[in-house]
Amino acid sequence: MAEIVIVPSAAAAGELVAEEIVKLITARPDAVLGLATGSTPLPVYEALRPRLAGVDVSRVRGFALDEYVGIDPHHPESYRSVITKEVVEPLGLDPERIHTPNGALETISHAGEDYERAIADAGGIDLQILGIGTSGHIGFNEPGSSFASRTRVKTLIEQTRQDNARFFDSVDEVPMHCITQGLGTILEARHLFLLAFGEGKAAAVAGAVEGPVTSSLPGSAIQLHPHTTVVVDEAAASQLAHADYYRYAFANKPAWQGL
Ligand code: PGA
Repeated sequence: MAEIVIVPSAAAAGELVAEEIVKLITARPDAVLGLATGSTPLPVYEALRPRLAGVDVSRVRGFALDEYVGIDPHHPESYRSVITKEVVEPLGLDPERIHTPNGALETISHAGEDYERAIADAGGIDLQILGIGTSGHIGFNEPGSSFASRTRVKTLIEQTRQDNARFFDSVDEVPMHCITQGLGTILEARHLFLLAFGEGKAAAVAGAVEGPVTSSLPGSAIQLHPHTTVVVDEAAASQLAHADYYRYAFANKPAWQGL
């Protein structure tokens, strides 16, 4: 099963994951990061900023999970723009080495395959950061997504458009389609970090970690992955049946094991 780490705050989660990323980049300067957008990963990027000062990040590579289809890449809420503003610029990464799926309509019929090839050519993703939607989605793999799915176009469910309306002027402006790494793509990353904060994520987290493995809750795909670390605050952990065991196991974890 995944390792569950319950932390006091989102900031503490950010520090924990940032430490792992720094270790990875120090050991492997051309590491391949799987980047996520949304509110959840922000504490990781914030914690990385001081920690990466003085670390050579010129060869770090990255792949975002998803992008809206048909959005102008220069739109402030395109995931290309968000990744540039929140990750590439503050961390001093090389924009040429950081990729997002191409949501342009003209090339959308082969954009998924192109992205899969780019990930494969990079040697796969070393460490993937994941949030989880209230629907249980990871990336934009909405309920019903195949566990074998690869990067492709998906239709967003209404709940996701409502959840993301805060980034736009109105829900009507949230694109209806997205291009997202598939669950099969995500499951090939070598180490998954799934983060969630707040009461609103508690049901999705409990379903993903302790519920049945089902495409109805795409986050439950993590149960099939050999190396997943779930980092949650108390509120997001509040519906976990075995929270006490996870705390006990983490507190007594042999130091040599690492995350
Ligand atoms: P959030 O989104 O981090 O903005 O809550 C998570 C997700 O939809 O995967």
